Amino acid sequence: MKKPASYPSLQGKRVFITGGGSGIGEDLVAAFAAQGAQVAFVDILDDASTALCERVAKAGCPRPAFRHCDISDIAALQETMAQLAETLGDFDILVNNAASDERHLAEDVTPAFYDQCVAINQRPMFFTCQAVLPGMKRRGAGSIINLGSMSWHAMNRGYPVYCATKAAVAGLTRGLARDFGAHGIRVNTVTPGWVMTQRQVDLWIDDAARAGIKRAQCLPGALMPHDVSAMVLFLAADDSAMCTGQDFVVDGGWI
Ligand SMILES: NC(=O)c1ccc[n+]([C@@H]2O[C@H](COP(=O)([O-])OP(=O)(O)OC[C@H]3O[C@@H](n4cnc5c(N)ncnc54)[C@H](O)[C@@H]3O)[C@@H](O)[C@H]2O)c1
Repeated sequence: MKKPASYPSLQGKRVFITGGGSGIGEDLVAAFAAQGAQVAFVDILDDASTALCERVAKAGCPRPAFRHCDISDIAALQETMAQLAETLGDFDILVNNAASDERHLAEDVTPAFYDQCVAINQRPMFFTCQAVLPGMKRRGAGSIINLGSMSWHAMNRGYPVYCATKAAVAGLTRGLARDFGAHGIRVNTVTPGWVMTQRQVDLWIDDAARAGIKRAQCLPGALMPHDVSAMVLFLAADDSAMCTGQDFVVDGGWI
């Protein structure tokens, strides 16, 4: 990637990210820290998250604050966010990134599996938005970025409940934009296409998948986590000051 854009308005901003320990979230943590932002993130991967904090600090960026938290436990998530905000100050930016894309067949879905999918992909997104609201109101500004997915737009097979929960992201973004906008808080969705995280490469990327991507994308080449981070940074920065309630698609032109 060419030298990434620099956003002076992100310097010193307090950012909260869910699922920052690996994949796109890992890149988001490093990208915000590289802008001079103070990042706090939660994940269930302790070793990877701790190593990431070390790497970022060693690179001379503000050391991110990591807390172990399973976001399906809303009380624990609320408590963790409150403690972090108390230590670091009110959050300026929230990135709802964590999700689980476990594959499943409609025939096999039980009520418990369905609820678990909602509990990770959908429910925490609302409660993190609720948690940052008082602090953002105090500042009269804020930016919330919710990670959606191209999967349901593309009618992908193999994970219908995941698709349903990711479709709900668009509803949450648009359902909050007007109420939060009254306080200068922006809420947007970023919709990634198929992004080559290590997990995707290890689990799903083979010759057939590569051929499928080549057919589906207008642009050659693979989407990388930094392509998504670049859009998230823009939406977090003051440069996107009048953008809210929208869906920003980063999919290489998938059809
Ligand atoms: N990778 C893609 O191709 C792709 C495509 C479309 C949308 N997305 C979206 O982008 C976001 C990030 O995707 P990714 O591929 O990096 O995901 P991932 O599964 O690789 O990583 C998600 C992170 O969230 C963490 N996490 C999972 N469950 C958690 C829980 N209960 N509590 C706390 N942390 C938890 C994981 O440990 C991991 O670090 C997701 O919202 C996903 O739906 C990704």
